[in-house]
Formats: sequence, C-alpha cells, structure tokens
Amino acid sequence: MAVNAYFSRRALMRATFAAVLLLLPLSCAVLAAPAVREDTIVGSPPALAPGQAPPLPQAGPLAEPRSSNQVGFPAVLTQYVISPATLRPARIALGQKLFFEPRLSGNGTVACATCHDPARAFSDGRPVSIGIHGRVGQRNAPTVLNALYNKHQFWDGRVTTLEQRAALPITNPFEMGSASIGDAVSRIASDKDYQTQFMQAFGRGVNEQDMLSAIAAYERTLASFDSPFDHFIAGDANAISDSTKRGWKLFNIKARCHLCHALTDNQRDPTLFMDNDFHNIGIGILRHHVAPLAQQAERELAQGHLPAIDTAAITSEMSVLGRFLVTRKESDIASFKTPGLRNIVVTGPYFHDGSMQTLWDVMDHYNKGDGITDPWLDKDMQPLALSESEIDDVVALLASLTSPQYKQIGDQEYARQLATSKVNRPQRDTGRAFGPKPKQPPPPPL
Ligand code: HEC
Ligand code: HEC
Repeated sequence: MAVNAYFSRRALMRATFAAVLLLLPLSCAVLAAPAVREDTIVGSPPALAPGQAPPLPQAGPLAEPRSSNQVGFPAVLTQYVISPATLRPARIALGQKLFFEPRLSGNGTVACATCHDPARAFSDGRPVSIGIHGRVGQRNAPTVLNALYNKHQFWDGRVTTLEQRAALPITNPFEMGSASIGDAVSRIASDKDYQTQFMQAFGRGVNEQDMLSAIAAYERTLASFDSPFDHFIAGDANAISDSTKRGWKLFNIKARCHLCHALTDNQRDPTLFMDNDFHNIGIGILRHHVAPLAQQAERELAQGHLPAIDTAAITSEMSVLGRFLVTRKESDIASFKTPGLRNIVVTGPYFHDGSMQTLWDVMDHYNKGDGITDPWLDKDMQPLALSESEIDDVVALLASLTSPQYKQIGDQEYARQLATSKVNRPQRDTGRAFGPKPKQPPPPPL
C-alpha cells in the first residue's frame, strides 16, 4: 500500500488526542450545537416518476457549517489542507446558498443538495444518483462531509480540488445539465441578492471563478468528527460498547481493514479511515466484461480530456473502469478511491455503484475476499475467516463513527440494516470465507 502521509504523523496524533482545539477563524462564525431533524429519514428515498429529478432538500440546521470544536477534530491536518483566508464567513454563506441553488441547473430543478442532502449526511440514499430529467447515473453519491481532506475527488480521483469538483456536475448532462458554467452564472447574475453577496464576499460582481470558490469554501467547513469513537480515543472508555472495542481491534488486525482504511499499514489511524489511494476490491467488475470496455476507452476517450472522462464515468458502462479512465494504466482497471468511513451507517447503499444495501453485505464481501475471477484484484484482498459475532463487532465499530448530528438517523438506520441482515444476506459465503485464498487468473490480453 502506498503511504501518502502528507503531514507529520506525530503532529496528527497530537492534534487528534487533544480534545478541543480552536485554530480556525471559522469557529466563531458557525454554529456548534448539534441539531437533529425531527422528520429523520432512513432507508431508500421514494421512487420518482419517469423524467423527474428528485425533490430539492431544504437547507435546515444540518446544512450549517461545522465548528472546529469537535472531539477528534484534526486541527493540524485541517490547517495544512485549508488556508484560513478561504474561510471568510461571507464566502461560506454565499457557498452554502449556492449549494442549494437549482438555477445552476439547465432547467432549474437540480442543485448540489439534490444528491448531497444534509439530512442524509450529504449523500442521497440511492444506489446511484438521479439528476436532471430523472436521468440515472452510474455512480453512488459520496458524502461531502470531510471531502476537504481528500487528496483526490471522485471515486476515480479525476480531479484534485473542490473548485474543479464543483464545476463538473453543473454541466454534466446527467447531473445538473447546464449548457456551460457561464450559462449557470448568467442565470443568477441578475439576482440583486447575489450581486450584493458576491460583492461582500469577493469585492466584485457575480462571476464563475468566485462562484466555484464560494461553493468550495462552504464544503471546506463540513468537517465531521465528535463521534462516540472519537470520545473513546480521547480517553472516555465508556463512550463505546465492548463489541465496538473488539471491532476496533479486528479492524486493525484480523479483518485487515487498516491496510487501506488507514494512512499506514502498521499504525492505528483514528482520523479519516482512508489512504488517499485506489484499489480494485472486486466491486462491479464481476458483472462486466472489462477488457472490451478498456479497449473502448482507449479508442473513444482522448487521454486527459476531463469533460469526456466525467461524462463517461457518470453516463456510460465504461464507468466500471474506475481509475483506469484517468491514468490508462492496466493496473488501475476497476480500481476506485478508498472512501473515508465516517457517518458510514447513514450514507448507504455502499460502494461506487451502490450495489450493497447493508454493512453486513459489505462485511460478507470482504470476508469471502470476493473477486476470484478478477485478475486485477488488490493483493490485500483475501478470505478473512471472520465469525458472525466478529462481523457484528466490526459493524458496531463502523456505526460508532457517526457524528452527533446524525445519532438519531444513525441509530434508526443501524436497526433497519440489522433487521434486513437477519432475513437477507445475499453476499454471505461462509465456505469461501473460511477457505484458502483462491488463485488469481492472469490478466487477459487487452
Ligand atoms: C445528480 C446528482 C449530483 C449532483 C446534482 C451533484 N453531485 Fe456531487 N457527486 C455525485 C456523484 C454520483 C458523485 C460521485 C461521482 C464519481 O465519483 O464519479 C459526486 C461526487 C462529489 C464530490 C466528491 C466527493 C468524494 O469523496 O470524492 C464532491 C465534493 C461533490 N460531489 C460536490 C458536489 C457539488 C459542489 C455539487 C453542485 C455544484 C454537486 N456535487 C452536485 C452526485 C451529484
Ligand atoms: C484492499 C484495500 C481495502 C481493504 C483491505 C478494505 N477496504 Fe473498504 N474500501 C476500499 C475501496 C477501494 C473501497 C471503494 C470500492 C468501490 O466502491 O469500488 C472501499 C469501500 C468500503 C466501504 C463502502 C464505503 C462507501 O461509502 O460506500 C466500506 C463500508 C468499507 N470499505 C469498509 C471496509 C472494512 C470494514 C474493511 C475490513 C473488513 C475494509 N473496508 C477493507 C478499500 C479497501
């Protein structure tokens, strides 16, 4: 596993264990109190009429920027990844408003929040996202919480900054479908309130660059920690159950999760649960003929042409090629970014294609080391021989990563998934989980 530590490890540990550190100017500008929506929602959202985009969520208290006053908040890392100048309150407020602005879409129906709903921890609860005119994409919407720490954005890492990231969905034909960014800007440019807010935030009129900066500034305030697990790491031994404590041990030893969901292979990492790297873990590839798709990508997509890659990733079967779309390296075929795991119980369904319904399905996938017929499967994937109670322990750990704003929906969703797992375990294969590591086939000629 590549070690992509982009900050001093000791500094990170110091920051993580210090309970409360207020290093950001944003802390005075934003709310601290956890808010819980009363009409919390669990499970899948309702089906839509054909041709219809999902309803636009309202900006409630859960849309507010998060404070740095959270147990487990990585102050040093945060200072490293964002310059405080970008976090001016006027910019954040403008970005928050733009995040809910449907006029940025081609027909005024879709905003960022359509697929990144604050009530669902900034995801949408669907296997794959649905955008303008009800068009169904190929990929699951990841949370925007903690995206500020991502070294790469998107499942395949095709862009690295939140500014670039904000531009792409506005013109993607399956997401917001604007003819151009300029087009989207022109639809809000005549709005008096926006004119005033842009002036306050940037000292000039409505324009494309500042619009993207404002959205990114808002996203950079969405740090999410303060979970029961963080309180445990900070020293409160009673913050999590015994099962969860066993789950944390299993995560770092027998279940091998830390090999990818931590910055290094040999140190426990309680911060972001990702390695800033890409792996093929056998999702999706089992159902697709990859070699012809790779040939198609070579033929049809100019290498490095970002809009073409973006469209292919969201709208075509080539989506399954993952990181390969960006790098054209055979070893990257069907590899995807390791996502962080915070608030994970709230952000299902799981994986880049939303193909798994519960965290028990996720565990069954890893337990059997799925992907025998996948020649590019990551070498760290292997059968784990986890018992049923060990699986429950790791799921308990995952559920302990829920920030206080989502405690209620997290508890409900955990109960719902548990009930589902009692009657339906489509991924379970105990024979394989306790069997030997299968031989990997050689890659086919491309
Ligand atoms: C129609 C649904 C939809 C809309 C609208 C949408 N997104 Fe997304 N968003 C997605 C999906 C799906 C992905 C994953 C796509 C991929 O990886 O190929 C994503 C990924 C992201 C990511 C990357 C997160 C990560 O961990 O890599 C960020 C940040 C983001 N969106 C922000 C935004 C912003 C800002 C807007 C509005 C300008 C927006 N999104 C509009 C569905 C949507
Ligand atoms: C070889 C690297 C690797 C190992 C080992 C690994 N993961 Fe992952 N994990 C990934 C990658 C890459 C993805 C995204 C894959 C995709 O969607 O195609 C992922 C996705 C997930 C998801 C879904 C996240 C989401 O937002 O949909 C969960 C949950 C998860 N992993 C938990 C675990 C647990 C628990 C373990 C240990 C049992 C583990 N992972 C072991 C690399 C790994």
